[in-house]
Amino acid sequence: MNAQTPLHTADATDAEESLKLQQAQATTFDSEAATAVAMQNTLLTPRFYTTDFDEMDAINVEPVRDEWDPLIAEMQADPNKGHFRKTADWDHVDWDGMEPELKKEFIDFLISSCTAEFSGCVLYKEMKRRGSNHEITTLFQLMARDEARHAGFINDALREAGIAVNLGFLTQKKKYTYFQPKFIYYATYLSEKIGYARYITIFRHLEAHPEKRFHPIFKWFEEWCNDEFRHGEAFAMLMKTDPKLTSGINVLWIKFFLTAVFSTMYVRDHQRPAFHEALGVDTDWYGQEVFRKTSDISKQIFPITLDIDHPRWMPSLKRLQRASADMAAADRKSGLAKLVGKASAGTRAALAFVSLYTIPAKRNAVPAVTRLQPAY
Ligand SMILES: [Fe+2]
Ligand SMILES: [Fe+2]
Repeated sequence: MNAQTPLHTADATDAEESLKLQQAQATTFDSEAATAVAMQNTLLTPRFYTTDFDEMDAINVEPVRDEWDPLIAEMQADPNKGHFRKTADWDHVDWDGMEPELKKEFIDFLISSCTAEFSGCVLYKEMKRRGSNHEITTLFQLMARDEARHAGFINDALREAGIAVNLGFLTQKKKYTYFQPKFIYYATYLSEKIGYARYITIFRHLEAHPEKRFHPIFKWFEEWCNDEFRHGEAFAMLMKTDPKLTSGINVLWIKFFLTAVFSTMYVRDHQRPAFHEALGVDTDWYGQEVFRKTSDISKQIFPITLDIDHPRWMPSLKRLQRASADMAAADRKSGLAKLVGKASAGTRAALAFVSLYTIPAKRNAVPAVTRLQPAY
């Protein structure tokens, strides 16, 4: 903790500082409402992860030193310090006048985004705490700093709607999923890069259609997604230190994570039709656009990309989405109808996923130089 504690999470220079501020806001605000929201199912969608921190601590970054040092220097220069706070650009939000379905979906979007940001923060902070490898702890401290700010900013937006996500409560109550380090690399690399692609696609769309910007938070997405882009770069570097991670049998794991991350995004986005309609975004177009950008970027380190133009791709995604909706509907029934409904939907979802996974992947030659700059 620094001698002088900043007054806003945007100025916090480490995750602990930022979380302490957010905790104070959550408890002085309305902990009952916060707790109720924290208990909702939507919050459980993004997971919290734990891993073998000793194995990660043993990474030697020497093989990627040339690209590593400039990345760390860029993050230490802290281009987004002070950015994640409300300014004069933060237009008034008419929460009471917002169409109820849109309000519900948008709040769900904010809570799930906040949870995802906080999930990254928790994992990165823990790595920094447990590690003794200077290169690794430096990187993870910088990334935890960014994610804590992101979560803090979303909490600012939610507070205006009368909601505060109680991060201390989440840390204690939320389940942690164990992933071995290589799965953390694939999953986290992809979630950072797809996060970049999602935010920049919405940002560019709203630049062209400002009348569709129904909330000011979207104005912050450009600098925001540049943070996520840098985090993704760091995971590309970590994978590059060990060529085994992106070759042989592991290519099948990479394909699995690509398929899982893309199809999860597709299903979740289709659960928010009013949100996408308000933005003026066709959900299928948006999905394909984000998959295309993410695929292009991931060629920096992954030797394959998914064939998202394959004739089986979109129909299988749609089948998966329908099966997932039927699963939720069956869950609201009782007795035999529930049992049969869930079994049938579960089988259809599994078959749709297999259909997606078995589409032949496209091979690409991975470049000698990995680092990329955000270019969309
Ligand atoms: Fe983030
Ligand atoms: Fe991130």
